Amino acid sequence: MGRKKKIFEQVKIFDTTLRDGEQSPGNTMNIQEKLRVARQLEILGVDIIEAGFPIASQGDFDAVNLIAKTIKKSQIAGLARANNMDIDRAWEAIKKAKKPRIHTFISTSDIHLKYQLRKTRDEVLKIAVRSVKRAKKYTPDVEFSTMDATRSDRDYLCRVLAEAIDAGATTVNIPDTVGYAVPGEFGELISYITEHVPNITDATISVHCHNDLGLAVANSLAAIINGARQVECTLNGIGERAGNASLEEIVMILRTRKDLFAVDTGIASEKIFPSSRLITSITGVQVQPNKAVVGANAFAHESGIHQDGLLKEKITYEIMTPESVGMTQSSLVIGKHSGSHAFRKRVEELGFNLSSDELKKAFQSFKDLADKKKEVFDEDIEAIIAEEVLRAPDIYKFLHMNVSSGSIAMPAATVEMEIDGKVIKEAAFGDGPVDAAFKAIAQITKTKSKLLKYIVNSITGGTDAQGEVTVRLEEGGTVVVGQGAHVDIIMASALAYVNALNRLEHAKKKSLKGLF
Ligand code: KIV
Ligand code: ZN
Repeated sequence: MGRKKKIFEQVKIFDTTLRDGEQSPGNTMNIQEKLRVARQLEILGVDIIEAGFPIASQGDFDAVNLIAKTIKKSQIAGLARANNMDIDRAWEAIKKAKKPRIHTFISTSDIHLKYQLRKTRDEVLKIAVRSVKRAKKYTPDVEFSTMDATRSDRDYLCRVLAEAIDAGATTVNIPDTVGYAVPGEFGELISYITEHVPNITDATISVHCHNDLGLAVANSLAAIINGARQVECTLNGIGERAGNASLEEIVMILRTRKDLFAVDTGIASEKIFPSSRLITSITGVQVQPNKAVVGANAFAHESGIHQDGLLKEKITYEIMTPESVGMTQSSLVIGKHSGSHAFRKRVEELGFNLSSDELKKAFQSFKDLADKKKEVFDEDIEAIIAEEVLRAPDIYKFLHMNVSSGSIAMPAATVEMEIDGKVIKEAAFGDGPVDAAFKAIAQITKTKSKLLKYIVNSITGGTDAQGEVTVRLEEGGTVVVGQGAHVDIIMASALAYVNALNRLEHAKKKSLKGLF
């Protein structure tokens, strides 16, 4: 007799990488990058994609709108403060989605009411009800969030939630906006809500935890144990300040410890690593090497005792396999004689969804690289795609560079760039060849930005490895990250610097960010 497969209750994954994640420093994306992330989130099996905050800027509106029209499997949510203008704008942006959701929110803590909103509890309650009703006129799927819930008076919070559900909210979200809660307390709050909101069974309980004290994932899990059935999270845990709960950690904890939680998600876990890499390659913000699940060392066993155990039996020191999160051994891909078909197959296996024009462009760069470098690895292909396909359309185009340096000669660089169709050439001396190149680029672009960080990584091993450079620039409070990859490290540095300057220009064009 065959054993019956146990059916686990599902927890919905609400991904806010494109909203809470994207609004954090260094993580801004352009519209094409956002669409690419949305496509990947759909492949990953995310239930709801929060695509953005449509009222925040025309750029945000356009991105949400494009994602809503394109994505078919995941639901698309648009964020709106609890007022008519925001809600109408959110609906305009998402109305073409197959499964649209309006997510409206207002603060409920006395601290926010007194100092930010300057409203009474009764006034906020009325606004909440009115807003849910307005959103409900547009779509049956309405999520309502009580911002700063964890510092709100519990009975008032429950009153607002009950009335929001009565008004039509189908999901009620309990945010730990400032990352203040600790797991026992947060779990108890969710349990309190299930007991004191009479109509709570008419809605799904969601949680949205920030990581200020490093507890976002733990708090989300405590909420799940106490009845939450939607978690809001982001890839790599990016988000406001210390970030949001990390999607990959929540998913892998629920899967690895199914025995304890008895719930599961619809996430295709083997797509986690490519999805994480997509975010780092678009934003240039790397995850720390020891980051759980997706860090470079997450599955690297260094200790002799551990290695000995692993060789004898994997279960001795491995609670999940790298393959289960899509982290395969860095493998030699294809050589210079490989055809476009093999290249496309590998690109797809790495989790990228490229159009035929993008593929053509990436394949040409791959061929050029294979001419210069004996072996081409997965990481090289990812770097090519980041460089040739994913980077924002350039305002500043890098054309050529000549550099001289040595133990006697003063380092000097001559750089040629194109801006608005005009070719400009400048030369500069520097403390080293990179400094000289940056100075020449700064003269051409007339940038006033400050270089905050300069990081060099070797993408793969060997002296012919591609170098990957990350630079962090700041201007007028805006911080951006740029990346460049090349077999010549000075070239990689110049490309990273120009990429960051382009991102800075894009960021300057964005308005109304940080509305709350
Ligand atoms: O952190 C927060 O409270 C939010 C809300 C908009 C859900 O991001
Ligand atoms: Zn948030």
